[in-house]
Amino acid sequence: MVKDPECVRFLQWALPRLRMSWPGYRKVRRQVCKRITRRLHALGLAGLAHYREYLETTSEEWSTLDSLCRVTISRFYRDRIVFDHLFDVVLPCLTEQVRVRSANRLDAWSIGCASGEEPYTLAISLILRADTVPAQPPFTIIASDADLGMLARAQAACYDWSSVKALPRDWLRAAFDRADHGYCLRSRYRERVRFLHQDIRTALPGRHFDMVLCRNLVFTYFDAELQSAILEKLLVRLRPGGALIIGKHESLPARGRALAAWFPKLGTYRREPH
Ligand SMILES: C[S@@+](CC[C@H](N)C(=O)[O-])C[C@H]1O[C@@H](n2cnc3c(N)ncnc32)[C@H](O)[C@@H]1O
Repeated sequence: MVKDPECVRFLQWALPRLRMSWPGYRKVRRQVCKRITRRLHALGLAGLAHYREYLETTSEEWSTLDSLCRVTISRFYRDRIVFDHLFDVVLPCLTEQVRVRSANRLDAWSIGCASGEEPYTLAISLILRADTVPAQPPFTIIASDADLGMLARAQAACYDWSSVKALPRDWLRAAFDRADHGYCLRSRYRERVRFLHQDIRTALPGRHFDMVLCRNLVFTYFDAELQSAILEKLLVRLRPGGALIIGKHESLPARGRALAAWFPKLGTYRREPH
């Protein structure tokens, strides 16, 4: 494995060239440094100085490095307090809006959905909630990620204990079957999420949403300029009055007048009604 200080110097050089931000990577750099070490072995290069030279002469290698820099950590019910706030405060408001708009459903989008933990948490909670809150409208969930490997795992929808352990036990019993290799999500929940292979920097789903979850990706790993550009695009996709949810430890770049704070400590914002 490449030594940590050497990897840090390399990342500090390479990340800005990918329009990413080093501080976001500080705590999670081991995952990325391990992948870069494997890449050096695959290319038969002796060290990061050689890899840097290789990058300077081989422009296609930048997109490989870009994919090596994807941090893919996730789990079900991540930041439980945020999901509880969504269910108790945000969803009732959005439900009311759907009713006022005479729309027949609520549309949600999870960006950087990893192996499906976030959109499936939403699907499980909305389905189980519908059993006790009859006024809740039907819903759709789109989940996008740039990484095909993560999307394949999302579609397989089987997880180990560490991924699901934060879920309330009755949700776990209701939504998963025990399997040799862990916990597999039942089809009733799986089929409520539609996955898209999309890079948020270059593509967006062609429709509008009541709720956009963009957690632990854009506002951690991308540089300030790219964050602002993507925020602008997200706002176009968010219906007036809709909710934008970012990571609990993230903050937004200057957001203009289109977006109001809902509960920023939990990363929830609301697009101004008009
Ligand atoms: C740290 S995970 C966050 C997962 C989930 N949102 C959460 O908070 O638990 C970041 C995810 O974003 C994906 N990702 C990275 N770059 C991306 C991009 N440019 N466009 C879309 N997804 C991307 C990664 O593949 C990874 O699955």
